[in-house]
Amino acid sequence: MTNPHFLDPDWWRHAVVYQVYPRSFADADNDGTGDVRGITEKLPYLADLGVDAVWVSPWYPSPLLDGGYDVADHRDISPDFGTLADADAFIARAHELGIRVIIDLVPNHSSWEHPWFKAALAAPPGSPERDRYLFRDGRGEHGELPPNNWGSIFGGPAWTRTTDPDGTPGQWYLHLFDISQPDWNWANPEVPAMFDDVLRFWFDRGIDGFRVDVADSMAKHPDLPDHVVNPHTGFGSNDKEPGAPHWDHPGVDEIQRRWRAVADAYADTELGGRIFVAEAYLDPIERLVEYVRPDRLHTTFNFDALISEWSAASQRAVIDKTIPAHESVGAPTTWVLGNHDNVRVATRYGKPTTGRDYSVAEPLESAGDPIELGAQLIAMPTDLAIGRRRARAAALLELALPGSAYIYQGEELGLEEVEDIPEHLLQDPAWERSGHRVRGRDGCRVPLPWSGAASPFGFGVDAEPWLPMPAHWAGLTAEAQAADATSMLTLYRTALRLRRERGDFRTDALAFHPLDGGDVLAFTRGDGTLVVVNFGADPVTLPAGEVLLASADLADAKLPSDATVWLAV
Ligand code: NOJ
Repeated sequence: MTNPHFLDPDWWRHAVVYQVYPRSFADADNDGTGDVRGITEKLPYLADLGVDAVWVSPWYPSPLLDGGYDVADHRDISPDFGTLADADAFIARAHELGIRVIIDLVPNHSSWEHPWFKAALAAPPGSPERDRYLFRDGRGEHGELPPNNWGSIFGGPAWTRTTDPDGTPGQWYLHLFDISQPDWNWANPEVPAMFDDVLRFWFDRGIDGFRVDVADSMAKHPDLPDHVVNPHTGFGSNDKEPGAPHWDHPGVDEIQRRWRAVADAYADTELGGRIFVAEAYLDPIERLVEYVRPDRLHTTFNFDALISEWSAASQRAVIDKTIPAHESVGAPTTWVLGNHDNVRVATRYGKPTTGRDYSVAEPLESAGDPIELGAQLIAMPTDLAIGRRRARAAALLELALPGSAYIYQGEELGLEEVEDIPEHLLQDPAWERSGHRVRGRDGCRVPLPWSGAASPFGFGVDAEPWLPMPAHWAGLTAEAQAADATSMLTLYRTALRLRRERGDFRTDALAFHPLDGGDVLAFTRGDGTLVVVNFGADPVTLPAGEVLLASADLADAKLPSDATVWLAV
């Protein structure tokens, strides 16, 4: 499929972006781990699927102690994944096929293997090397207590004590995430300057944009004060209420403006200005949309859509709150069902609780910690048949809404969370740091099944995949689904083709239809497309119109339970 919108400078406003988690996408060199050549080989599959852009999760050199979000060198490719030449070939081939390329920027922290962190450890307290990170003396008579009470997102304290060259205990360094992910000191001008260079390094290679990891965390209160204690963890809370010293702190805005200026400087190139998508779990929406003001970032993930329960009232509430909020700053809304941090949508929607009910006014709280949410969900039983049915309906809802939409690899195959990975194979740092309370996010990161009847299902040739693949995925391979007119893959392909062809989907016009209400969500897009989603148990009589696409069989001109239809009206 060719992409008529490839060179449109506003491509990102309506784009369908496909997230590749490189470790698990395709293993061209057959070593059990995905790689860049694997992604390049599968680009025709993504072009056929009809996506406008690929977002590649971190592909940099990394000890992979947080799945690559622990970056040791921002200007290279991990030897596990390939070479810079492989990346260049991938970018060039993607562009040939009309696909834009977004990669990950991880600006809050580096890996402890980053040369600057190694230099900091080797240098004395107070040195310029240490000032690039957040080193502090400990409290207590001998500095034996952490400098403040902050807790790590992955569990335990957010501080680790260093050992001086003579073997005595030294200063502490801050890590809001894993012990292997020291936080940068953005108040040191060397840090923003280094990241400007990183942006240009990749923009000059043809990258179209960056997904910004924890885009709300770079700036911190200069005094690093204690914070209100979270009674569950005993550490300073990671809730992101206004005034928190470590999240969405003043200074984040200035950093984002600086990046925007770097990206806008490419406006006159053939590919046009480059773009950013922010990852920030932030409540309320008025705070989040500050991030996508015209002089800051372009788009931000809509995690309310991801976290929302499967009900008409909650989904409607999310639509009602997010679209006007984004419009107020001139930014498009995005729609997200899953990613590498969250329980896969086919599993989540098969749980007795499918998410948060946004139709109920709730007190302000942290917008959601995907790891905690995942732990709660994984503890519940799953009805996968219902979950898959709802995932089909959800895909047609997501892809019909105005703005841009994200597909996490494997969603188009209807893959479920693998909930029974043997404990000794779990790799998420949350598993160890929570004292084996939280299994973490490995279940949504299992390698993709491409073809064949047995593991590794065409992921590699015969190497053991880095996480085990369920035997029943033989029926879910891309190859099996491509040949099946009723498969999830066929549904996605058809939906993306229609989305690209029908002008209605490129407008921002959305009007609720009289059928809307109760267990039904119904809206028109543009002048001629009607979308109806039935969340209820009973079938709904279809309004007049030509059926373009449905997520389930439409018997007797009715839309069954947990199904979506697109109609030309
Ligand atoms: C968000 C990423 O999506 C997640 O995978 C990672 O663990 C944290 N940021 C820390 O970088």
